Amino acid sequence: MSQKSITIPQDFILGAASSAWQTEGWSGKKEGQDSYMDIWYKNDRHVWHEGYGPAVATDLYNRYREEVALMKQAGLTHYRTSINWSRFFTDYEKGVVDEEYARYYDNFIDEMLAAGIEPMICLEHYELPAYLFENYGGWASKKVVELFVLYAEKVFERYHHKVSRWFTFNEPIVVQTRVYLDALRWPYEQNTSTWMQWNHHKNLATAKVVKLFREKGYTGSVGAILNPEVTYPRSSAPHDVKAAEMYDLFYNRVFLDPMVHGRYPQALVALLEQHGVQWDYSADELALIRDNTVDELGINLYYPHRVKAPSRAWNPQTPFHPAYYYEPFELPGRRMNKSRGWEIYPRIIYDMAMRIKNDYRNIPWFIAESGMGIENEGQFRNAEGVIQDNYRIGFISEHLYQTLLAREAGANCQGYMLWAFTDNVSPMNAFKNRYGLIEIDLQNNRARRAKKSAGWYRALRETRTLTLNIDDDWK
Ligand code: BG6
Repeated sequence: MSQKSITIPQDFILGAASSAWQTEGWSGKKEGQDSYMDIWYKNDRHVWHEGYGPAVATDLYNRYREEVALMKQAGLTHYRTSINWSRFFTDYEKGVVDEEYARYYDNFIDEMLAAGIEPMICLEHYELPAYLFENYGGWASKKVVELFVLYAEKVFERYHHKVSRWFTFNEPIVVQTRVYLDALRWPYEQNTSTWMQWNHHKNLATAKVVKLFREKGYTGSVGAILNPEVTYPRSSAPHDVKAAEMYDLFYNRVFLDPMVHGRYPQALVALLEQHGVQWDYSADELALIRDNTVDELGINLYYPHRVKAPSRAWNPQTPFHPAYYYEPFELPGRRMNKSRGWEIYPRIIYDMAMRIKNDYRNIPWFIAESGMGIENEGQFRNAEGVIQDNYRIGFISEHLYQTLLAREAGANCQGYMLWAFTDNVSPMNAFKNRYGLIEIDLQNNRARRAKKSAGWYRALRETRTLTLNIDDDWK
């Protein structure tokens, strides 16, 4: 073991993230204000771990003041969450703001600002209104793109003088991939064309919102939070390398390229056509995407993705799926977070940073989510009842270290945000894997209690130095 210390620049974000639907709960929610997540949960509650879902979540709606005090205690410089589109309006088509819900956000934001914590706000973190999903097919519809722009307009009008860093989507690829490509989530439909249509409309919606923001002359920036997976081929053989390139094209570049370079990769467009994937796009839409690229990116990075060339022929009876070109590969001996089943490989951050530096014009970006979900954390409680989450401190240290090294190597990386500030409800995993600096006690009315990592995080901010042990002994 050797001990290393690295300086954390003064302007470097040390924050944490969450989202509206994963925290606020249904208090005050009105009839007709369900989100896609709410109707999935209502239709299919049994697939959510022990039945926990968005209904109570962490009850943030009623406890945001207490939460902000804890953020201050944990030393956060920034906090990222979303506004819940499905609750922001009482009429999505006319854009009638739900004053009660908007007031909650007024207060929550004011509370953060008073505590010296900068809010970063995402317009959608899977909170597509159920009404739009049921009546228009969600993001398959151009009408929904227009209604999203109307929503952005109302949100900017109300909060532009308080919030300056905006994001259109969190992980825009996720819902349609789980629903329309993999059929793992309600309503379990497999349709690759619908998948691509959702991708395109979210790219288009981002461009339109960027345009709107600039035309209105607001101060600040509009970005998006993406989850490109650093994809390593099993081997250096051309067939494995091609598998990794294909994965990258379909899942990473489908958002990275239009949002940063203003165009879809030609190879992707050609492959979609070759496989009969139909998506409706026009020259005007592509021009909008070209002319309105994002100001910055948030990147969510949890684990490496490893692939190899497919070992079997494709079943022609099934719709085209990008897995036509790859198969997952599990590296023997890999380090694992066994609770979540995710490989731990901190180097992903450095590799992603160099990719953005070299291939994406070194656009400003930050780690928007990184973190470790652990089951049964109660077993790590000390005599005073505080969870001793040394594994989380180790995980953050190693990942933050790679972030800072990348910055020293010229990456335009603005900071590191932990997922998540508190334990919260995740899609299906619910409260099974705990991610927070702050524990949420489900047996005790969602009471909050700081874990050991919260104090450690605060010390990072105070000392602006990360010290960690690196396992580098030849044993
Ligand atoms: C990210 C999402 O992909 O991962 C979050 O933006 C999610 O919404 C987080 O909660 C952790 O994933 P999971 O499934 O372990 O909770």
